[in-house]
Amino acid sequence: MLKGKKILIGVCGSIAAYKIAGLVRLLVKQEAEVQLIMTPAATHFITPLTLATLSRKPVLLDYIANPHTGEWNNHVALGLWADLLLIAPASAHTLAKMAHGICDNLLMAVYLSARCPVAIAPAMDVDMWLHPSTERNVNQLQADGCHLIPPQEGELASGLYGKGRMAEPEQLLEWISNFFAIGSMLENKTVLLTAGPTIEPLDPVRYITNHSTGKMGYALANAFAQAGAQVQLVSGPVHLNLQHYRVKTIPVTTARQMYEAVSSHWAQADVIVHSAAVADYAPASPATQKIKKTSDTFWLELTKNPDIAAEIGKQLLPWQVHVGFALETENEETNAQEKMKRKNFDLIVLNSLNEQGAGFGHSTNKVTLFFRDGRREALPLMTKANVARIIVERVAQMVLAKKHVV
Ligand code: C5P
Repeated sequence: MLKGKKILIGVCGSIAAYKIAGLVRLLVKQEAEVQLIMTPAATHFITPLTLATLSRKPVLLDYIANPHTGEWNNHVALGLWADLLLIAPASAHTLAKMAHGICDNLLMAVYLSARCPVAIAPAMDVDMWLHPSTERNVNQLQADGCHLIPPQEGELASGLYGKGRMAEPEQLLEWISNFFAIGSMLENKTVLLTAGPTIEPLDPVRYITNHSTGKMGYALANAFAQAGAQVQLVSGPVHLNLQHYRVKTIPVTTARQMYEAVSSHWAQADVIVHSAAVADYAPASPATQKIKKTSDTFWLELTKNPDIAAEIGKQLLPWQVHVGFALETENEETNAQEKMKRKNFDLIVLNSLNEQGAGFGHSTNKVTLFFRDGRREALPLMTKANVARIIVERVAQMVLAKKHVV
């Protein structure tokens, strides 16, 4: 499974560094290529010789590999070589430097130049982990796109009890294996996704719509395509353009048209995501000619649009993963949970309108994920692209779980 995967491990100064010896053994056994970089502090906890022997490669410690010959370690090439950069144990110090882009050692230079995905497995004492500055830094790193392998709760080297223990080598291996499995897990899967607003005409000139720009939906379509899925994007009118050979856009205008497009494609999809802001009501009988202003008051009769998500929810097939969005202005969580039940979602993404930088038109978003099994996951403010990446990962896990059940 991990054969030939190139894994760069950055080891920081923490007592948990000894666990990396176990992880390297496990990875090498699976025929992964492992390259270690140690920070100067890490060498106090485990010797480079131990890790070099286990990884069968010299450990990199500094920019200058050999001061006599001028041979140096090319951080750019290392960042390009790797399929994954895992920083484990990630000390509070290194997390803070990563969050601020401070480049004072080889590991930091590699992190800043890496184009591959980056994962962090923090290790520190409970109070350090709970410190607001650590929380801020970890939130920032997640917002920057780093994957967090959360520390475990248990007895700590200090004798204190709490959260801060780095995941065990077996758990890290499991995370890495899942990570690579998910990367290609949506290959041959079809995702049907609605995005953007709908427009409901009143007459040939005017219409009813909402503030949705489609940014979140398009970010999701892109993230699903990058994870290998074929994406059918049923899009309301937006000013966005998504060029990806695995994305097929089906443009629609009204909720009724969106419903028809979804109705003819949903049965073939493995994943159905409703991120569109569908108008709940449409003018009952749109005028064929421009409406004249003849009277002081004007009554507009509206009829209810089909609830696309609820209709699909009623017919959902056992292997299909069903995802919806909620945007609430009050009782956010209760309403989102109720909506998840009513529309038969496996996952509902609650958008916050109350957060700065979140919601319509922004490139960032702050969401909480609610899962059918009762789990919830509050994500920090992050780019819509990163929110999309996390949603795709969670969906991929659910696709896998359903495959095992069906
Ligand atoms: O009921 P509400 O509009 O708040 O539900 C939001 C969720 O339902 C979103 O996922 C949205 O895309 C979907 N929806 C739909 N058809 C509608 C209304 C909402 O698919 N007519």
